[in-house]
Amino acid sequence: MRPLEEQTVLVTGATGGLGRALVRRLAAHGAQVVAHGRDPKRLEELALDVERDTGTSIDTVQADLADLREVGRLADAVLEEYDALHVLVNNAGVGFGSPGAAREVSANGIELRFAVNHLASYLLALRLGDLLRASAPARVVQVASAGQLALDPEDPLTEEGYDGVTAYRRAKLAQVMATYDLAADLVGSDVTVNALHPATFMDTTMVREAGQQPVSTVEEGLDATWRLVADPALDGVSGRYFDGVHEAQPDPQADDPGARAWVRALSDRLVADALV
Ligand SMILES: NC(=O)c1ccc[n+]([C@@H]2O[C@H](COP(=O)([O-])OP(=O)(O)OC[C@H]3O[C@@H](n4cnc5c(N)ncnc54)[C@H](OP(=O)(O)O)[C@@H]3O)[C@@H](O)[C@H]2O)c1
Repeated sequence: MRPLEEQTVLVTGATGGLGRALVRRLAAHGAQVVAHGRDPKRLEELALDVERDTGTSIDTVQADLADLREVGRLADAVLEEYDALHVLVNNAGVGFGSPGAAREVSANGIELRFAVNHLASYLLALRLGDLLRASAPARVVQVASAGQLALDPEDPLTEEGYDGVTAYRRAKLAQVMATYDLAADLVGSDVTVNALHPATFMDTTMVREAGQQPVSTVEEGLDATWRLVADPALDGVSGRYFDGVHEAQPDPQADDPGARAWVRALSDRLVADALV
């Protein structure tokens, strides 16, 4: 990998917990940071905070990832603005939601957690793939979760017996499955794709919103994520899943090529329908 000062790094969900901490550390190390958020005001505050605290200015880019058309526009904006992209950190995510909350759908009518946690990150990686290849060595880091649940082929979008925890866990496994598929697509390109569970119940908005008691600090998750973003020891390592800093086994469905094929076909169909 290049020195961080020579890298351009896009972090999604940069106005909240882990993404915000990652952006600060990247800026402190002199990387060119492109911080994504959905709220222009929060993005502006983030840029001011980071510049004040690190002396490094960052770029910002706005998109609501609950609309795949906006994900496409986000990719277009990055392609237009930057000649190189060395790291894409797909960090933005929707958590369990409040206990007992009703099923939510995205602007494209897709179950919200599947749309934001999986489809947005998948589409962004696909759309930025050529720029990453041209910038290689490059990395895609998928901030997933250990809380994975096998997708039901009869009901992958949790239309029956919905609860936010089930929908979240299915979406996070889909994100890990996409990690394996994208890594395979990119073999030989020197663009690596890895997923991780950053830490368990960090003290962030999504954990508090779900009524969970935090058990980890954001710093713990940041250290694990930082390793996949910036540790030269991970050069060339691709298609892996890490629990914190240790390589781990995801839910067995991720290793089932047949399951990955139907989840990918479903994902491609949902993305294509949303972008019509
Ligand atoms: N917290 C944990 O213990 C834990 C454990 C395992 C995995 N993770 C994963 O870690 C990642 C970061 O989560 P976090 O813990 O830092 O939670 P967080 O503080 O709630 O941050 C989530 C981020 O995602 C953004 N986001 C949510 N919906 C979005 C949308 N529709 N469009 C654009 N951005 C959107 C949020 O934007 P706003 O700032 O505008 O709200 C926020 O920046 C997530 O992928 C999460 O699943 C977290």
